[in-house]
Amino acid sequence: MSSIDVGRVRDDFPILRRTVHGRPLVYLDNAATTQKPRAVIDALVHYYENYNANIHRGIHALSEEATARYEEVRLKTAHFIGAPGPETVVFTRNTTESINLVAHAWGRRYLRPGDEIVLTIMEHHSNLVPWQLLARDTGVKLQFVDIDDEGRLIWDDFERLIGPRTRLVSITHMSNVLGTINPVKDIAELAHSRGALVLVDGAQSVPHMAVDVSGLECDFMAFSAHKMLGPTGVGVLYARQGLLEEMDPFLGGGEMISRVLPEQSTWNDVPWKYEAGTPNIADVIAFGAAIEYLQALGMDAVRAHEKEITAYALEALSAVPQVTIYGPREAEARGGVVAFNLGDLHPHDLGTVLDRHGVAVRAGHHCAQPLMRRLDCVATARASFYVYNRLDEVDTLLEGIREADRFFGHVATRA
Ligand SMILES: Cc1ncc(COP(=O)(O)O)c(C=O)c1O
Repeated sequence: MSSIDVGRVRDDFPILRRTVHGRPLVYLDNAATTQKPRAVIDALVHYYENYNANIHRGIHALSEEATARYEEVRLKTAHFIGAPGPETVVFTRNTTESINLVAHAWGRRYLRPGDEIVLTIMEHHSNLVPWQLLARDTGVKLQFVDIDDEGRLIWDDFERLIGPRTRLVSITHMSNVLGTINPVKDIAELAHSRGALVLVDGAQSVPHMAVDVSGLECDFMAFSAHKMLGPTGVGVLYARQGLLEEMDPFLGGGEMISRVLPEQSTWNDVPWKYEAGTPNIADVIAFGAAIEYLQALGMDAVRAHEKEITAYALEALSAVPQVTIYGPREAEARGGVVAFNLGDLHPHDLGTVLDRHGVAVRAGHHCAQPLMRRLDCVATARASFYVYNRLDEVDTLLEGIREADRFFGHVATRA
């Protein structure tokens, strides 16, 4: 039995009342972005209707109010991830920008030719391409930890690859394709014992389980508001105390400076040193409402609910002979993401049939092309769950898959 009252939760999400192709919407694309509760939408409207103003600059009431609300969310975010204080939390546009910030502001300052960065083969392009650009410009070498047959990282690869030249280990907490939850605390311990820093891509973990950056002992953590009931256009970079002070600025401009002379400038205190220009005030404030919503549910309850749905989905999908599931077999070892294929039917065709059933899934390479190559497939379909999903929605997904199997049967049975 789920520890979340899904019926009540669903009432909070206006979009879940709509139909798609005449069928009730079954939204199973939560790893891409989640739907927004009324509280988040209301916070946005309330800001624009009542205290829209630029922050940190004005001395008028509206600006003071907007500044206070914006900074409150920084504090809320810090609490939510177990960070020691708001000065360790930088608002960016998304996970991608947070990782690019580290690549520019830390990487370009500290890394030298021949230094090494350890990544894994399951990384999202967001945690790969910024390091490729850095490697191209600095002569840093990238190394990759492989996965085993169940999609788990190979521990011996970490032991072998993290060496005296390793400066950074940058890993996803949870794979957006395999669902694998990685042992980031153990990895951080090993990396630190060998003198390397650790960046955790928390895009798929922070929204779905209790994450404590202090307990995990990571140096950086990146995640996106839009994947955790919040609006688009807000990301977070957590950095261990002291790191932001030492690093170079990322973008230059207003807000991030202290004193500006014609030829040179000095920098604002952290975290504002990394928030050049007018930030996304309205969406940060609405992100605060998303955090409150998740806190009210309780992150352990969110995780338990998703584990239940994932276990149900894994069992149901395993019962279809033509289905191949990627990633660990047990729900315990994975988050609420299930990537699969139906015979050799292209996942886009499968996605189109599912769409006719009102079921929204993702189909493609999921911004993880090296992983697709490693799995020896071009693309997969992917169902991903969140707090408002019900078990019977998995049944609807299966109905659609069975129909696709019948309709394209001659293709599916070729596999
Ligand atoms: C594991 C992982 N990392 C990074 C990202 C990038 O997130 P964003 O597009 O919000 O920057 C995603 C998005 O799907 C993801 O799943």
